[in-house]
Amino acid sequence: MMKVFASSMFFILLCILHMSFSCSGQAAASISIAAPMEKAEQEALYSTIQSFVGKWWNGSDLYPDPCGWTPIQGVSCDLSNGLWYVTSLDIGPVHDNSLNCAPNADFGPHLFALKHLKSLSFFNCFVSPHHLLTIPTDKWESLADSLESLEFRSNPGLVGQIPATFGGLKNLQSLVLIQNGLSSKIPTDIGNLSNLKRLVLSQNQITGKIPDSLGSLSGLLILDLSRNLLSGPLPHTLGKLTSLLKLDLSSNQLAGSIQGELRNLKNLTLLDLSRNRFSGGLTKSFQEMSSVEELVLSNNPVGGDIMSLNWQNLKCLLVLDLSNMSLTGGIPDSIAELKRLRFLGLNDNNLAGDIPPRIGALPNISAIYLNGNYLTGELKFSELFYGKMGRRFGAWNNTNLCYPIELKSTGHAPYGVKPCHQEATTLHENISDLDEKSNLGKGDLNHDSHPTVSLAFPSFASNGLCLCYIFLCELFMIALDFSLTRFAW
Ligand SMILES: *[C@@H]1O[C@H](CO)[C@@H](O)[C@H](O)[C@H]1NC(C)=O
Ligand SMILES: *[C@@H]1O[C@H](CO)[C@@H](O)[C@H](O)[C@H]1NC(C)=O
Ligand SMILES: *[C@@H]1O[C@H](CO)[C@@H](O)[C@H](O)[C@H]1NC(C)=O
Ligand SMILES: *[C@@H]1O[C@H](CO)[C@@H](O)[C@H](O)[C@H]1NC(C)=O
Ligand SMILES: *[C@@H]1O[C@H](CO)[C@@H](O)[C@H](O)[C@H]1NC(C)=O
Ligand SMILES: *[C@@H]1O[C@H](CO)[C@@H](O)[C@H](O)[C@H]1NC(C)=O
Ligand SMILES: *[C@@H]1O[C@H](CO)[C@@H](O)[C@H](O)[C@H]1NC(C)=O
Repeated sequence: MMKVFASSMFFILLCILHMSFSCSGQAAASISIAAPMEKAEQEALYSTIQSFVGKWWNGSDLYPDPCGWTPIQGVSCDLSNGLWYVTSLDIGPVHDNSLNCAPNADFGPHLFALKHLKSLSFFNCFVSPHHLLTIPTDKWESLADSLESLEFRSNPGLVGQIPATFGGLKNLQSLVLIQNGLSSKIPTDIGNLSNLKRLVLSQNQITGKIPDSLGSLSGLLILDLSRNLLSGPLPHTLGKLTSLLKLDLSSNQLAGSIQGELRNLKNLTLLDLSRNRFSGGLTKSFQEMSSVEELVLSNNPVGGDIMSLNWQNLKCLLVLDLSNMSLTGGIPDSIAELKRLRFLGLNDNNLAGDIPPRIGALPNISAIYLNGNYLTGELKFSELFYGKMGRRFGAWNNTNLCYPIELKSTGHAPYGVKPCHQEATTLHENISDLDEKSNLGKGDLNHDSHPTVSLAFPSFASNGLCLCYIFLCELFMIALDFSLTRFAW
């Protein structure tokens, strides 16, 4: 990047020279003498680009001095022993004048002649469903001494397996293969990449187990294998990745218990295991992951209860999503100690008992979902809380939960919850008394049993300001949701 910038600055300088002396031939010659490029390197660059962009692309015509005064968008060079070499190549529509791939784009052999390449990326290049391509398996060793970053992003036409030979790219720090059509297993050889800091294989159709060998990547900071078809258990070796900051294995078919080894990941800030088949409950080891900011375990049949964990240990938590996990027991009061919490999802479980009122006083909380449980009793949050949260306080589908009747008049009654005075059991007894005497009872019951839900809305509507406020809240929440989704991605 710096080199491209530097060389384009040079080019501008050259133009100025050209204008003042109008002897461009001499100036150009002197520049190319100042910064020469080996003929073989130059030809390899042209041939490589041509194999992706199409035969029409004539490099020697368009860019006679690709590392000098005619830079190519997406190509960067560096000087080595007084000669220019290509160090970075980005193929795909990143900028207006980027190198765009032809429908029949292919890997030419010349790519592997660019022996100083540190960074290689393909974005939206192999897209044609009529021209499916696999990543070449041989020759990568010729880039082993130089390549530090390899990226294939959004190439649905790129299918087949991840080459085991990637395991020989010993200087690789970042391997990103997002949103391609790759399938088959993760090669165990990936575990040879001892300098790897980032491994992202998300949104492919990768199958099989997570290989134990990934535990050898001791410098890894980011491991994202989300949205694939991975199955089997979490390998114990993941506990060896002690530098890890982000671990995202969401949306796979992983099963078994969530093991205690994860406690070793002391620097982890994101743990997303959602949308898998994990079971076996949550062990106490979770409370040792004291740096976690986002803990997302939703949509797994995990089971068990969460009362015995000391949630206050997870003091960095911003996002806690434990929804749809078949959890039983109550909501622990210690969750209210998580002062930084912004999102709390406990919905669609089998949680019972009262809701600790202190969670409503968390300073930065902007969404709490408790709907779809067996929570009971009277809600004890402030009127301000309901006003601030709107529909982002989810308490509906808790049959025996109610809110204080005084709230009704304020227009801040929580959605889908009934007011407390209307005691369901009493009403029921009275109506069933009636029911026994006449058949009129049924109609009355149906009419009377959901008055709160229907009453809540006219009172929203009658208060324009309030409606507007809730709308703003919703907007903010949508933004939050979006940023969460993006983070997870
Ligand atoms: C590019 O153009 C030059 C001259 O215009 C021509 O000699 C050369 O063969 C062309 N190269 C390719 C690969 O088409
Ligand atoms: C990875 O390491 C193993 C064991 O040292 C070795 O047998 C294998 O050839 C290596 N793979 C690659 C692609 O270098
Ligand atoms: C964890 O983070 C701290 C602070 O950033 C750092 O000093 C430490 O080396 C990290 N631990 C590991 C195992 O990487
Ligand atoms: C809840 O999780 C299960 C998997 O445990 C999943 O099949 C189901 O679709 C989820 N339900 C919802 C509402 O997401
Ligand atoms: C609440 O959020 C604000 C703004 O993002 C932040 O400055 C503050 O530290 C947060 N409070 C807590 C207790 O995390
Ligand atoms: C409660 O759950 C049922 C399905 O079990 C659903 O149809 C209904 O819409 C839910 N109620 C609310 C207020 O969301
Ligand atoms: C029935 O309703 C009346 C008032 O309408 C009330 O006094 C009484 O306690 C209710 N419950 C039962 C079990 O009768």
